[in-house]
Amino acid sequence: MILIDGKKTADDIKLEIAEEVKQLLAEGKKQPHLVAILVGHDGGSETYVAAKCKACEVCGFKSTLIRYEDDVTEVELLARIEELNNDDDVDGFIVQLPLPKHISEQKVIEAIDYKKDVDGFHPINVGRTSIGLPAFVSATPAGILELLKRYNIETAGKHVVVLGRSNIVGKPVAQLLMQKAYPGNATVTVCHSYSKDLKEQCLKADIIIAALGSPNFVTADMVKEGAVIIDVGTTRVPNANTKSGFKLTGDVKFDEVAPKCSYITPVPGGVGPMTICSLMKNTLLAGKKAIY
Ligand code: GUN
Repeated sequence: MILIDGKKTADDIKLEIAEEVKQLLAEGKKQPHLVAILVGHDGGSETYVAAKCKACEVCGFKSTLIRYEDDVTEVELLARIEELNNDDDVDGFIVQLPLPKHISEQKVIEAIDYKKDVDGFHPINVGRTSIGLPAFVSATPAGILELLKRYNIETAGKHVVVLGRSNIVGKPVAQLLMQKAYPGNATVTVCHSYSKDLKEQCLKADIIIAALGSPNFVTADMVKEGAVIIDVGTTRVPNANTKSGFKLTGDVKFDEVAPKCSYITPVPGGVGPMTICSLMKNTLLAGKKAIY
């Protein structure tokens, strides 16, 4: 069994990006600039945005954090997005989700110029991704593909079972893995809460991508010997033995599943670190105006 080290892979990629940024600057080109909008003080969002700004520093990007209180109006937020769309110094920007209930997340996402949508959430980027056109691919699916690539895991002709059909993980990763490309050319089955034969499907899988947000859902009796397991789950499960009072728990019962696998991602330290790294890759693409 090979443990897929997402932390090391992400660190390597950030160093590669930093090298490329140095090269860009040496050629007199502009320093890529990422802006993050954070509304309110949600603990998880604060942590994620701080990590994104830190990663920008490591990559040599300029980063700007714009903060609003919870009571910001949708109109105010949309006006700021319009300003960022028109600001030539800003290559890409994100609005950290979730947003307060009185603001429509979909309206916000669709207000972002798709050429600056480094989260890859705009319907134009989602659509382009699904038909294989150049696009900003959202962070988690892009991170999963990068791990498969960096560990030389074969996907062509393999049976991939994706557990979960969310717009930001399940659907796009299924689309990407069925494309005529590497990683891709796989036979993909997407299972979800209405699937009746989920265990049987999993037992046929060469690769399982677990993205349901259900802690320890995938057990050893659902996994074929030698399968590749990608665990996207990151549920905070209360735990009295940790300082934070919770334990980040994946969708896969790691201890019993790992011995059966050829490759497996741990939680934490697997897919998680790759997501911010994918955002950095998208910011570099935005800086180079590679998606237009
Ligand atoms: N909230 C949780 N994950 C994400 C993400 O990838 N992007 C944004 N904008 N918000 C998030």
